[in-house]
Formats: sequence, structure tokens, C-alpha cells
Amino acid sequence: MSLPSPEPATSVSSAPVLRQIKDLPGPRAWPIIGNLLQVTPQRIHQDVEQWCRRFGPLMRMYFGPRQVLVVADHHTVHAVLRERPGSFRRPSITAKISAELGGLPNVFIAEGADWRNQRRMVMAGFAPKPIRAYFPSLVNVALRLQRRWQTAADQHRPIDLSTDLKRYTVDIIAGLAFGQDVNTLEAGDNVIQQHLDRILPGIARRSLSIVPYWRYFKLPQDRRLEHSSAALRNEVYALVEQARQSMQANPGLRDKPSNLLQAMIAAADQPDSGVDNDTVAGNVSTMLLAGEDTTANTIAWLLYLLNRNPHTLQKTVMEIRQLAPDCAGFTLEQMDALVYLDAAVQEAMRLKPVGPFMPLEAIVDTVIEDVRVPKGSLVWCVMRHDSVDEKHFPNPQAFEPERWLAQAQDKQVSSPFGSGPRTCPGRYLALLEIKVAVAMLLSRFEISSVDTADGQEAQELMAFVMSPVGLRMRLKTADAATAAS
Ligand code: HEM
Repeated sequence: MSLPSPEPATSVSSAPVLRQIKDLPGPRAWPIIGNLLQVTPQRIHQDVEQWCRRFGPLMRMYFGPRQVLVVADHHTVHAVLRERPGSFRRPSITAKISAELGGLPNVFIAEGADWRNQRRMVMAGFAPKPIRAYFPSLVNVALRLQRRWQTAADQHRPIDLSTDLKRYTVDIIAGLAFGQDVNTLEAGDNVIQQHLDRILPGIARRSLSIVPYWRYFKLPQDRRLEHSSAALRNEVYALVEQARQSMQANPGLRDKPSNLLQAMIAAADQPDSGVDNDTVAGNVSTMLLAGEDTTANTIAWLLYLLNRNPHTLQKTVMEIRQLAPDCAGFTLEQMDALVYLDAAVQEAMRLKPVGPFMPLEAIVDTVIEDVRVPKGSLVWCVMRHDSVDEKHFPNPQAFEPERWLAQAQDKQVSSPFGSGPRTCPGRYLALLEIKVAVAMLLSRFEISSVDTADGQEAQELMAFVMSPVGLRMRLKTADAATAAS
């Protein structure tokens, strides 16, 4: 059978004979259920990474009866990610599950022309200029985290890293997205945050479910998920309405919006913008969802790795205490100058990327390397394969920020923010949040420990993003002499 005019190949396609996905090596699959019983949803990233080590960087697996092409070579992954939105999309099941939950249009699930319009609107709010303008508010949130951690240090209490860091990121993203000081760090849980915590793990669970049972009966977790999705939508619509009212009262905000929501409303109200009120609300929710766990977990992994590598921790501390010794006085120039910290962040994201894989779906008949990929095929891009391979990183499991300072290091091998036209729009903000949090911490405190309750290595848990399980941190206030040295 010949391929009906394949789209431009995503990678090498000069092979005279194309293979089919089913001909590739891969784990033995069962009828109907395929390989689903061989993976654990919370550790699916590790299961597939292990298969890639055994069967090679181009392999196949089955989700139920559906075949999945797995690609792990970083050149091929980049080539596939670049071919969006023309040849590949995010899997249609994700959009379907989001729609079932009453999800609004947003840049993460949009495709084609819709995605282009929304991406343009969102990018305007995430350009370095507005993010830099927001910097003083970001530092203000970091100072609240500092006060919270000071109390914990004074009371010799362990800090639940995940809870505190999520409050930090939610406070930052809420301030940037809709100009509200939700202050979960000092005022306690905010309703929005409680809903956020349920939504992404719920969508991830449903995406991997063998049977869409929730369409026929609902478990308590399904009811909670649906309640949270509806509640978040209502909260966000109320925020959009409030923003519209302030823009009516102060029309100058159309030209000089003071937050992302106002900027999006102004863009949506332009003739031919291609976006409407629902899209604005959908993207506010998406910013909250995409900006919370990703950044919080990256900071948690970084602190965990720094604490396990005292020599590296010491170098990071020295750089911070020399160049950015006081959180209240942090400047953007100081953050830019923290090059060793920057390298430590890259290194933490190489070993512990919070998005260790990216599932896609072919929307045209196409070719990947020498494999024929029919329209509708699932393509699973493994992001942590070459990045932990000694061909690219000597001593790959070691946490060595120095490798990122070497000119020779190929930076493309590790892509924690994705690649191509859909690369993460929040990356500049995220890097700034991470640097400010770690600089605040290490300028003021000494880490006594970052560990799990049983003292074992922190497990990786996959629930839309990959988080460390159960990390607690203990701090001591650095004495003045040490902090100044
Ligand atoms: C360390 C923190 C973060 C990491 C590691 C991360 C990682 C990623 C990755 C891997 C993708 C998929 C990219 C692709 O498909 O090629 C993505 C997409 C996205 N991220 Fe992030 N992200 C982070 C923080 C943020 C923040 C702070 C925001 C916003 C507040 C954000 C908003 C988004 C959005 C809206 C998309 C979808 C873009 C599109 O489909 O066009 N992310 N992110």
C-alpha cells in the first residue's frame, strides 16, 4: 500500500522501504488491553523510559488496541515537535476529556488557526517586558515565603515543600494573570487553589483510563473533579467580569493593561481577533493550572538535589550571598548575574524534568525516521532519554551544574520546556520564580535537611506533572557572620 501523499517527513525519510509501527521492537502486548497492565499510571514515564533502554529509541507499545510510536532520540523528538500545528497535535483524548468537564477554549488544547490566535494573545502577556515589570510583586511574594519559613525555622518545624511552594507559585501567577493578591502564603488556602489541585491530576487519570467509566457512573473522585472544574470556571468568569468593569471605568487600561487578563480582554475585543470572552476565561484558568505545579515541583526537585550534593550547594550559596545577599533588595540584574544557580536549575531540570514525556497525535499521514505514521497514530515523545545518556552527558546521573557552564555542552539535548512553536510560554517567568525563591532561601537560611519521611530516595510521581513524593525541609537561620561571608 502506498502512502497517500505524505506530509513533509519529520525527520529522516530517505529510506527506500518504510517500516510500519507494528514492525518495531517493543514489549509483548496482550489482546485488547495491549501494554496497559504493564504500566503504572503514576510511574508511566519510568516504565516507558525503561522500555526505550531495552528496545531502543524508536519502539512501539499499545494502549489498549491502539498502537503508539515511541520516539526518544532528541533530534527526532525536536523534529516531531517542530511539525506542529501542521502534522501533529496534542492527543484528541485530552481535548475530549477537557470538553466533557466543561473546559473552556485555551492555548494548551487549541489546534490550528485557533491555537495561533490564542498563542499570539497569550505571548503578549508573557514577553520579558511585562514579566520584568511584574518583578517587584514577585519579590514581595518571596518575602512572604521568607517570613513563613522564618517561623518554621524558629519553631524547628519541618516544612512541607510541596504545599509551601505551590502557595508561592499560585500567589505569583494569580497576581500576574489577574492582578489579585490572593496571598495563600499568609491567608491560607484559597478556593481557587483547592480546585486547581484536583484538575490536572484528574485529567491525567482519565486520559490513561482503559475504560471511560465516568460516562456511565461516577466515583467520588469524579464528582470532586467535576465540581472543581465547574467551580474554577465560575470563579474565573467572575474575575473576567470584574476586569471588564474596571476597564469600562478606566478606559486607559485598554492601552496600558495592568495584568494579563486585561491585556487579553483588550486583545480579544480587537476586530478580527478570533478570540472571545470564553477564550479569555479559558486562558486565565490555563495560566493558573500550567503555572502552579510545574514551577513548584521544579523548585522542590532542585532543593532536593542541592541538598544531596553539599559541594554544589556550597557553591550556590556562595554565589548568592556574594551577588544577591538580601531578598528585599533583589533586582533583575542580580538574578541575571546568578549564573551558577542558573546552571543548577538547568541541571535539576535535566535529571528531573516535570514534563518527562509529551504525547502527540498525527493529524496527517506522515513519516518519522523510516517509519510510516498513519493519521491518528499516537506518538509518545520521551524527553528524558538522551539527556541521561552518557553519550551526551558523562556520568549522567550525577548532579553537576558545571556541565552547563562548558561551551561544548549541546543545550538541545535536554528540553524541559518542550520545543518548536508550542514551547512553554511561561519559561521566562518560571526561571525567574525559581531563581528568586532559591536566592531568598539560601541568602537567609541554612538547609538542615530535605528528605522524605522514611529517609529513602524521593519517588517520582506522575500526575500530569512529575513531582517528588513527600519532601520535607528543615531550615536554620544562617548566622550573620556566615551569611555575610
Ligand atoms: C519550570 C516550570 C515549567 C516547565 C518545566 C514547563 C514545561 C512546559 C512544557 C514541557 C510544555 C509543553 C511544550 C511543548 O508542547 O513543546 C509547556 C507548555 C505550556 N506551558 Fe509551561 N512549564 C513551566 C511553567 C509554566 C508557567 C509558569 C506557565 C504560565 C504561567 C506555563 C504555561 C504553559 C502553557 C500555556 C503551555 C502551552 C503552550 C502551547 O500549547 O502553545 N508554563 N510547559
